[in-house]
Amino acid sequence: MTKITWKAGTMLSPVPPALISCGTVENPNVMTAAWTGIICTEPTLVYVSVRPSRFSNEIIRKSGEFVINVPTVKLAKAVDWCGVKSGRNVDKFKQMGLTAVKCEKISAPQIEEAPISLECRVKNITSFGTHDMFLAEVLAVNVDDKYIGEKNELNLDKAQLLAYAHGFYYALGKKIGKFGWSVEKKSTAKKRIARQKQENTQNNKKPQKGKKYGKQKNKN
Ligand SMILES: Cc1cc2nc3c(=O)[nH]c(=O)nc-3n(C[C@H](O)[C@H](O)[C@H](O)COP(=O)(O)O)c2cc1C
Repeated sequence: MTKITWKAGTMLSPVPPALISCGTVENPNVMTAAWTGIICTEPTLVYVSVRPSRFSNEIIRKSGEFVINVPTVKLAKAVDWCGVKSGRNVDKFKQMGLTAVKCEKISAPQIEEAPISLECRVKNITSFGTHDMFLAEVLAVNVDDKYIGEKNELNLDKAQLLAYAHGFYYALGKKIGKFGWSVEKKSTAKKRIARQKQENTQNNKKPQKGKKYGKQKNKN
């Protein structure tokens, strides 16, 4: 294999093309941001990098709040559209048929149609070259209950999450493993496969072969 070295660039892929909602339920705005991510587990810190020219930058600076709404394939058109139109000129919620819903801890609205919405309060703003980074604490996470199972577990398989890689949108593929499965003990794997087969039979589904993943909790 030969790797060609390119000049520095924002090539990290995939990233979530998140819908960042801000403003209020009565007067909401939303923009797409792919430059967003997790900084720390405890306290739960995230960031979104927004160019100073964006209308959302102005709103978030004033309110100190925003919501990161996780995008899905169903929301792909809205994701792209909200990433090319400015709330200065158009009501993006109205045009894209999005519903602004009240949050638990902040005044900024969440998007009803998104499976997961993270309520964020800004702690710090750092201006770099092209973008201002809003570092924020996550105060609450709102999850569509249709993805929550009987044991209160989150099943995102059916949510069809959307990914963004180097200018293109992708639908996330099938689940192929779980955190820690590569070091799972054989006995644990056997038990898990048996349990999975039983569940699949109950659900009238064919058992999925070849999956070896364990019970470890994601401690990133
Ligand atoms: C896939 C995608 C990702 C984007 N990521 C960012 C980003 O991370 N930061 C940013 O400032 N703008 C980003 N944009 C552009 C803004 O979403 C766009 O300029 C939008 O119109 C700003 O809306 P506003 O003026 O209503 O705030 C992205 C656009 C797309 C389509």
